[in-house]
Amino acid sequence: MKPIWIKHAAQLATIAGKNEPRKRKEMSELGIIEDGSVWIENGVVAAIGTTVELEHQYGDRASEAEIIDATGRLVTPGLVDPHTHVAYGGSREREFEMRLEGATYMEIMNAGGGIHATTRMTREATEEELVEQTLRRLDSFLKHGVTTVEGKSGYGLDLETELKQLRAMKRLNEIHPIDLVPTFMGAHAVPQEYKGNEDEYIDSIINDMLPVVAEEKLAVFNDVFCEVGVFTPEQSERILEAGKKLGLIPKIHADEIESYGGAELAAKVGAISAEHLLKASDEGIKQMAEAGVIACLLPATALYLREDAAKGRKMVDEGVAVAISTDCNPGSSPTTSMPLVMNLACISMRLTPAEALVAATMNAACAIRMEDKVGSLEVGKQGDIVMWNISNYQELQYLFGVNHVDKVWKKGEQVVG
Ligand code: NIG
Ligand code: FE
Repeated sequence: MKPIWIKHAAQLATIAGKNEPRKRKEMSELGIIEDGSVWIENGVVAAIGTTVELEHQYGDRASEAEIIDATGRLVTPGLVDPHTHVAYGGSREREFEMRLEGATYMEIMNAGGGIHATTRMTREATEEELVEQTLRRLDSFLKHGVTTVEGKSGYGLDLETELKQLRAMKRLNEIHPIDLVPTFMGAHAVPQEYKGNEDEYIDSIINDMLPVVAEEKLAVFNDVFCEVGVFTPEQSERILEAGKKLGLIPKIHADEIESYGGAELAAKVGAISAEHLLKASDEGIKQMAEAGVIACLLPATALYLREDAAKGRKMVDEGVAVAISTDCNPGSSPTTSMPLVMNLACISMRLTPAEALVAATMNAACAIRMEDKVGSLEVGKQGDIVMWNISNYQELQYLFGVNHVDKVWKKGEQVVG
């Protein structure tokens, strides 16, 4: 593979600094290099600096490299999406119409639609079909500048199908350029066949599913939908503690529809992140800041469900590290556009353009334990890079709803443009 030399970027936003969740003022520090240059070799960043600096360092090897002129362009690390349900079967466009006609998300789910509908379609799909359908979504992520994606199971709700989803993701990670980081989410809903026997289903997650998932190393994280009518905080805690004993790191879908103590539970169990948090209590936010739980906020989901977004501004100001994500799923957020999510983080949660970019890179990487490899552009990190058709980071959020991606490299290989 030829080295790549990207030169003369109007702004090279490195996000350089510690490989840790960025908080408060650190969320505004983009490490911008003007007339920036980056040399990528063997898939990793070998040098980064001004174009003049790299001319000194690499000028005599210029003929070996593929040279990319980034004059007038913004260059950033590849975006990271730390929360998706990307590997699912089927589609639910009829529910979109039903919600516009007045039905709520939980009404549809309780009537056997929602997560249950996708569970039926995912159970019916073969592993090969799941791979096929998900490949197209991953291609779309890449086109939107996303080079690392977390993916959850949770549309199987039985051992066989949960494993099928996780194995499909393992395969996708091997065949697609995107790094796909797997999360087990057997506790996404109580399957309809266990209605009224919720605790029996929880026993089956703990005794039948978690041990196999851990044994086969099919997931890094264990996520629970802690919500009124789904799993209580007590049930969620049982499931997360059982996962912890097997080495699976807890995550929680918390306080999405109702305030339910999910943020507090995230702090209590030491979750790496808490997701959604639309209705998180002030006390919960405080406890998350103290415990160092990353808030993974999903403003596209709030918009799609026509709910008020999470209090992102308040969380940043109170010292919570904020990450953002598409929540890509067939019900509440069928999108693969992290650029749109960054726009919404500014518009509906009042993050600044710089904070939104850190939330979609370094903090997102930290939320899925990928911070040593991705999330910033520094020597030794993966050559995951986006060149945008705009000249500065403010424009990225200001010219909203538009895909400004020009070119994308994954591990030093050009995959878009
Ligand atoms: O994160 N809230 C629960 N799970 C997903 C939605 C899943 C679905 O509707 O299929 C979410 O929004
Ligand atoms: Fe989700």
